[in-house]
Amino acid sequence: MRLTELTVTDFRNLERARLQTEARFVVLHGDNAQGKTNLLEAVWLLANLRSFRETRQLRLIRQGADQARVLGEVRGIAGRRQLQWTRERSGGRDLRVDARQARGLEEWFDLLRAVLFCPEHGAIIRGEPGERRDFLDRAAFTARPAHLDLVRQYRRVVQQKAALLRGPRPSTAELEAWNGRLARLGAELTTRRREALDALRGPFQQMHAAIAGPGAVGLRLRCTGEDAADRPALEAALLRAMAEAQAEELRRGLVLVGPHRDELVIAVDGRAARQFASQGQARSLVLALKLAELEAARLRGEAPLFLLDDLTSELDRRRMARLVEILGALDNQVWITTTDPGWLGPLPAGGSARFRVQAGGAIREIDG
Ligand SMILES: Nc1ncnc2c1ncn2[C@@H]1O[C@H](COP(=O)(O)OP(=O)(O)OP(=O)(O)O)[C@@H](O)[C@H]1O
Ligand SMILES: [Mg+2]
Repeated sequence: MRLTELTVTDFRNLERARLQTEARFVVLHGDNAQGKTNLLEAVWLLANLRSFRETRQLRLIRQGADQARVLGEVRGIAGRRQLQWTRERSGGRDLRVDARQARGLEEWFDLLRAVLFCPEHGAIIRGEPGERRDFLDRAAFTARPAHLDLVRQYRRVVQQKAALLRGPRPSTAELEAWNGRLARLGAELTTRRREALDALRGPFQQMHAAIAGPGAVGLRLRCTGEDAADRPALEAALLRAMAEAQAEELRRGLVLVGPHRDELVIAVDGRAARQFASQGQARSLVLALKLAELEAARLRGEAPLFLLDDLTSELDRRRMARLVEILGALDNQVWITTTDPGWLGPLPAGGSARFRVQAGGAIREIDG
């Protein structure tokens, strides 16, 4: 899959920028605050219909403009398709596929997928457990867009059960009904997370070795019913654990059991990376996780875009050279932002395009 055209209008500081390229490596360079990350954000938005750094989409509209628009042309198994996202200041959103109203989000998400690596992702290794759950859910979404729906449904049930626990004396029947729903959706969610993790495990080990050298890394999902072999067994384990925790849940008004409490343990040489990884190790681990997503996608027969934000601040030259080598052997289109393109070193054969991002516009420079 390639994004062969990106046209951005009144998005963030970008009044109008049009990038056309068939290249496999697209380099966006320029000084600070010119709009490099904003361009990457626009690509991500097309793939996910949300930003990776802003939950309030109205902020994506350029100051003083009435609407923001991002248009992309994608070349993939479905041929050449055009995706267009528009957000009005009045709040409305318009999604078009080939100039026609999009039929549904499933259709949309099937056309363009992306994996992102940005400086904030260090939190996946060293941050709160929620960061790692989000990573895993995102990987599961890349593999299967319907995962998003499952996550949302599950989250709603947790919120509703929490409201019930905090309200006036819930009845046993009511609690049981919510526990039943939570266990069913929870078992499904954990099963999907396990599948995503199983697909990542081998590639993670392999990519980590390629980036950081020898050393054992591991991924494990610590959850209720961790030993349960399948979904029915998980569901039963969740119901049992909920029954045991009921009194405490009522006392504290909290939902204490379920996959919203799962912990993805990332281990290096048998120790939890969250506590023990150095800054540099953490960077290698995140990068290996992201590359593992690409490799898992390749094994499924897919090639999502790989978006790399602000690499200069993230990797030293040695790891950068290894990364470029690994990417050279893959088939994903790679979008990279950097303040210093020279620092990337020579990019692999297969075509690269370089754009200079300046004052909210993009100027094509050289193709390699
Ligand atoms: N809605 C908006 N309207 C106008 N300008 C905006 C809007 N949102 C963000 N900006 C501006 O866009 C500018 C460029 O941001 P961006 O994050 O893309 O920079 P960058 O080129 O990636 O810089 P750096 O190298 O520092 O990462 C910022 O100065 C920011 O204030
Ligand atoms: Mg930036």
